Amino acid sequence: MAAATHRAQRRHLSVHRIAGSLGAEIRDVDINELEENPGLVKEIREAFLQHQVIFFQDQELDAERFLKFTKFFGKPVEYPFVKGIDGFPTIIEVLKQEHETVNFGGIWHSDTTYFEHPPMGSVLWAREVPPYGGDTIFANQYAAYDTLSDGLKNTLSNLKAVSTSAKADTSKTREDRIRDSGNSSAKDSFEATHPAVRAHPETGRKALYVNVAHTSHFEGWTEEESAPLLAYLFKHQVKPEFTCRFRWRVGSIGFWDNRCVQHNPINDYHGFKRRMLRVTLEGDKPV
Ligand code: SIN
Repeated sequence: MAAATHRAQRRHLSVHRIAGSLGAEIRDVDINELEENPGLVKEIREAFLQHQVIFFQDQELDAERFLKFTKFFGKPVEYPFVKGIDGFPTIIEVLKQEHETVNFGGIWHSDTTYFEHPPMGSVLWAREVPPYGGDTIFANQYAAYDTLSDGLKNTLSNLKAVSTSAKADTSKTREDRIRDSGNSSAKDSFEATHPAVRAHPETGRKALYVNVAHTSHFEGWTEEESAPLLAYLFKHQVKPEFTCRFRWRVGSIGFWDNRCVQHNPINDYHGFKRRMLRVTLEGDKPV
């Protein structure tokens, strides 16, 4: 106990940015040691808020310890379209097998914005990775907002955006796939309306909050009227300079902040298996 206390007082994270806009790898941490070290948990949360998506490598866990890790940062919730793994309803498998061509979530998105309370974050733990490819790209939605003109910021400040789980062909493919293995009590589709720009509940910063996978139109506007402005925003919000790209290896963990980050897993590894475990953390209503 004395040793643990000593470590809690002296330990500081080794945080390494992986790109100019967002993303950092945290080195020299065994996440099994967090329980005895609340100071470290606090530092990880600070790094998460600062860098928006954080990564750990070579983590040797089992499902129970993975879930325990996620609980230091939020409340795990069940994912309505996908059943949890045996004994762990809040851990889902994100799997693409050798014979499959569609990957899970293969489009730019923020998770499940079609819910009244979209998740605050998601945590992914890599179990099997292809020999190449299968990286995930992340995009900083604070930067997307900050770089808009004052005129467009002003227009967006009055707009709400409608998200639906049944939006486009691309997301239909995704949801069809999800439904294949899903919870039969899940509704066919979900819809929610949120501010087009949200204020992050912890940092207070503004983030652009529309996404090509789920946002169908602005409240009070037709889809046709909304399309040109949305098309501009969808392109703007994932400019290369707002992104980072992560190469997974077995044991990698990624933890992203859905309130200010979008992500897109790249589907470039046909013929190989990629298997991840994912926990989704409860979020609040965007304002
Ligand atoms: C997702 O949760 O959208 C999938 C992310 C990934 O597989 O990298």
